[in-house]
Amino acid sequence: TDPQLIRNFCIVAHIDHGKSTLADRLIEKAKVVDERFYHAQMTDNMDIERERGITIKSQAVTIPYVAADGKRYLLNFVDTPGHVDFTYEVSRAIASCEGALLLVDAAQGVESQTLSNMYLALEHNLEILPVINKIDLPAADIPGTLKQIEHDLGLDPDLAVPVSAKQGTGIDELFEAIVAKIPAPTGSAEDPLSALIFDSHYDPYRGVIIHIRVFTGTIRPGETILFMNSKTEYKVEETGIFILKLVPSKELAAGDVGYIIAGIKTIEDVRVGDTITDADDPIAGPLPGFKEVKPVVFSSIYPMDTNEYDELREALEKLKLNDASLTWEKDSSIALGHGFRCGFLGLLHLEVVQERLEREFDQAVIFTAPSVAYKIHLRTGEEMMCDNPASYPDEGKIESSEEPYIRASIITPSQYLGNIMSLCVEKRGIQTNMQYLDQKRVEIVYEMPLAEVLFDFYDRLKSVSRGYASFDYDVIGFKPTDLCKIDILINSKPVDALSQLSFRGNAYDKARHVCEQLREEITRQQFKIAIQGAIGSQVIARETVNALRKDVLAKCYGGDISRKRKLLEKQKEGKKRMKMVGDVELPQSAFLAVLKTK
Ligand code: GTP
Repeated sequence: TDPQLIRNFCIVAHIDHGKSTLADRLIEKAKVVDERFYHAQMTDNMDIERERGITIKSQAVTIPYVAADGKRYLLNFVDTPGHVDFTYEVSRAIASCEGALLLVDAAQGVESQTLSNMYLALEHNLEILPVINKIDLPAADIPGTLKQIEHDLGLDPDLAVPVSAKQGTGIDELFEAIVAKIPAPTGSAEDPLSALIFDSHYDPYRGVIIHIRVFTGTIRPGETILFMNSKTEYKVEETGIFILKLVPSKELAAGDVGYIIAGIKTIEDVRVGDTITDADDPIAGPLPGFKEVKPVVFSSIYPMDTNEYDELREALEKLKLNDASLTWEKDSSIALGHGFRCGFLGLLHLEVVQERLEREFDQAVIFTAPSVAYKIHLRTGEEMMCDNPASYPDEGKIESSEEPYIRASIITPSQYLGNIMSLCVEKRGIQTNMQYLDQKRVEIVYEMPLAEVLFDFYDRLKSVSRGYASFDYDVIGFKPTDLCKIDILINSKPVDALSQLSFRGNAYDKARHVCEQLREEITRQQFKIAIQGAIGSQVIARETVNALRKDVLAKCYGGDISRKRKLLEKQKEGKKRMKMVGDVELPQSAFLAVLKTK
């Protein structure tokens, strides 16, 4: 295709402002899917996305559009996630586009991630097209939203396109605005090849599939390409574009977004952010890649069955192809054997990884209590980073500790200000700024420990503001703290995988909470089980699981053999997911219990 007839853009917005719904409308209008196969949330492929109603992965789609000028355009767009944990997905999508549709919910107005996503797009010099969505809602306030677009975002309100993604209103006007306002790609198909890997995934039948944006040159099956960072060469087997499924094409040229398959054997060769060039005629240096992602929460993953360590490693490697933000190294535990210490971008990210490992790769895994990374000053004068309770030094050796802090910016209607301020104080926050955006909305800025924000802050914020407050954060550095390690003992034996690091002031509550959760999760056994929470040798919480009295079959008097069999099978099913720790059987859910907050 002539690059003049290509438009590359992403759809960005605050959570729930309607990105996926808008993507659906664009796809529907373009009639690339047979009506019989059409369903809502076309760009949310994963089950987890559909169930939770959120986008986790950016998803690229190519659709044709015949504009009012009679020309046939190819629109490549990326539906991105809204949740803070997945900002990395957004930044990668942005790097492969010339423009961005910035959606603003007409009833909610500009929110925290509207701002942060706009800044991301500006950093990459994207042309931003504001789109006012949900104009069908009775609470929609179009004039108010236009004002916010001008004031809060500094964008030209005359450019804004009002739409209802749900009802399909304004979509034709939006298509025309995209063609008119978003710049066409500029590279030449004749120049040497440069293409950016912005994503990849593993297909069980076809192997590694690399998602690329071609900036200059042309890539065709049969050619040999070079991955500039990993310095490996592969022969291209297939090129193609994403029309919801993979559709082969004879080439991909400057301006195109599509995929390549190149018989890749070593998964580590493929690195998201790497540049692909022609092995025989390479460009001088790689394209600017992406910012290195920094994980903020750490947790160890162990296979339920210790023999499945290698399978778990393979699954992690394959998952990493599709989730470049996942990091890991080897770890081991007395209770759980060999596993991996993983870094995540937030708790939602952790949950998603856990679910994807189970669903996409059939891995039954145990996650240990998540932790942030602390800085510890030892009496010897040395300094160490610690994100793992297992490597936490003896208290006697510690001079002082520091914990990571964030700057949280919260936007809220002013009536919830009081509630939100008390919540932030409870979370050890210190207010650093407050600013009225207009008569009704306030922006407040707090510095807070990251550990407090990771756990239940987001849900609490939503509940104290009836869903109206929004927030965004940046990690700003370390501040002194009073840290301790909580151990959990089961029948007097410490279970290392259940230990966690905590601010001393929260330790009692946390220990009690974990013990209570464990009491719920641990099934009764032939003997009494004591669950204790302790700091060093001092026990700070205690619960008991009483001994089992009846056996399961006692309930089925008489000879209903099939019912007996069912019960036994059920027991077996449950056992599959059991882990022996000392002489106590812990179900997988017990390990998850430590993840749960109040
Ligand atoms: P994340 O990917 O999780 O950030 O969400 P999203 O921005 O993709 O939002 P999504 O498309 O999932 O829509 C969120 C909710 O808003 C859904 O319940 C949609 O049905 C609803 N919604 C989206 N567009 C419209 C609209 O134009 N009008 C109305 N009334 N509701 C809409």
